[in-house]
Amino acid sequence: MDGELRKMPKLLILYYSRTGNTKKMAKAVAEGAKTIPNVDVKLKYYATPGELAEADAIILGTPTYHHDTTLDMKNLLEEAAVREINLKDKIGATFGSYGWSGEAPDLLLEIMKNRFKMKIIQPSLRIRYTPDEKGLEEC
Ligand SMILES: Cc1cc2nc3c(=O)[nH]c(=O)nc-3n(C[C@H](O)[C@H](O)[C@H](O)COP(=O)(O)O)c2cc1C
Repeated sequence: MDGELRKMPKLLILYYSRTGNTKKMAKAVAEGAKTIPNVDVKLKYYATPGELAEADAIILGTPTYHHDTTLDMKNLLEEAAVREINLKDKIGATFGSYGWSGEAPDLLLEIMKNRFKMKIIQPSLRIRYTPDEKGLEEC
């Protein structure tokens, strides 16, 4: 039993949200993920580079502010890079709420792919402002 538990794939959903829109998406993504049997789903607002290393799949949620992702996300990935945290071949995906340009999720996908050699899932899931019922379903 213990051995089986340890083998359960771990999915980390990490998000940042200032006004709650990306948070709504994150909760819906986590809800959806939890319907998949035998996956250990963690939804977090903050994570350490070590927690990234422990996950088998990482989904990052980021709103776009000033054509960019957030400082928290950048700092986390920068720290992981400096500490040479190995994320190679882990599965990576991103999502986020945006207003008009929405670059942030794709920016993170690019870092996951090029800097960390992760296996990314494209395209990212982006929703303008507050997700409606249809948007949450998509999440
Ligand atoms: C100061 C400020 C700057 C923003 N800059 C951008 C931007 O460059 N591109 C964009 O698509 N949306 C931009 N937005 C819109 C936000 O991405 C949008 O409000 C989003 O829903 C915020 O997500 P959150 O509720 O998860 O924080 C900006 C919003 C504010 C308040």
